[in-house]
Amino acid sequence: MTTPDTGAFGDVDALPAGVFDMLFSVLRAMADNTEILRVRAAAWEALRPEPGQRLLDAGAGAGEVARDLAVAVGTTGEVVALDSSARTLAAAREITPPGLPIRFVRGDITALDLAPDSFDGVRSERVLQHLADPDQAVRELARVTRPGGRVCLVDTDWESAATDGVPADLATAMRDRLLSLAADHHNDMGRTLRRRLVRAGLTDVTATPVTCVFTDPASAGVVMPFFNPAVPPEAGMIPDDLRERWFAEVAAAGERDEFLATLTIWVAAGVRG
Ligand SMILES: C[S@@+](CC[C@H](N)C(=O)[O-])C[C@H]1O[C@@H](n2cnc3c(N)ncnc32)[C@H](O)[C@@H]1O
Repeated sequence: MTTPDTGAFGDVDALPAGVFDMLFSVLRAMADNTEILRVRAAAWEALRPEPGQRLLDAGAGAGEVARDLAVAVGTTGEVVALDSSARTLAAAREITPPGLPIRFVRGDITALDLAPDSFDGVRSERVLQHLADPDQAVRELARVTRPGGRVCLVDTDWESAATDGVPADLATAMRDRLLSLAADHHNDMGRTLRRRLVRAGLTDVTATPVTCVFTDPASAGVVMPFFNPAVPPEAGMIPDDLRERWFAEVAAAGERDEFLATLTIWVAAGVRG
């Protein structure tokens, strides 16, 4: 790789313990977030899991989706939940009930140690945005998918984030600063997924935008870390000089029931030719 992967999720194992625990609990909380559930329903429909299939979730995080997939494929199938973070895999394994047909594997999505044509379907959710070479990851996902199998990608379009209820000057300053704080991050990843699948040779490519709507700061904070006051300053996700005023205004907007935040997350899928 020529440039390092980006953001806290680019190298989870290097994070201080408190930051790791917070991020892992956020990954778990996403499984109950109604807006993330809408995104995942669209992704489920795009992947079309069936009993007996062998599926891969690359960058599986806490394993929430991998566990659901394991139930869907049943004991005649298998789900491989792959992640580059040893800590994440250990924590995910610990919360996985015994008997599910799921195997946790450490690996790099850009250099998969998995056989070609060996999966009926592969998915990767909110991982590509963190990678230095996302197209290499898409090529790898296509390589391990059997001909006729499906590849499903889910990713955020951070540039779509919009807020109402806080003073407009503060919302604009926060947005500009966040995007520049993460200038090396693929903030537009969601809208690029379709093109990346086409370039990797997938056919029948579809792309579906799911716009998440949050009307309370706590729910928004599960998906957008800059609404979550539990994200510690050392995570480097929120500009220090805006932090105090920002969280005070966000909380006040929530108390007045005037808070609104939106974010578009894209689901794209294609078939291996
Ligand atoms: C934002 S989390 C998303 C987790 C999960 N897909 C979800 O939607 O809840 C990104 C995950 O990708 C993993 N990751 C980052 N770079 C990776 C790489 N090169 N190969 C495999 N996993 C990677 C991180 O360890 C983290 O668990």
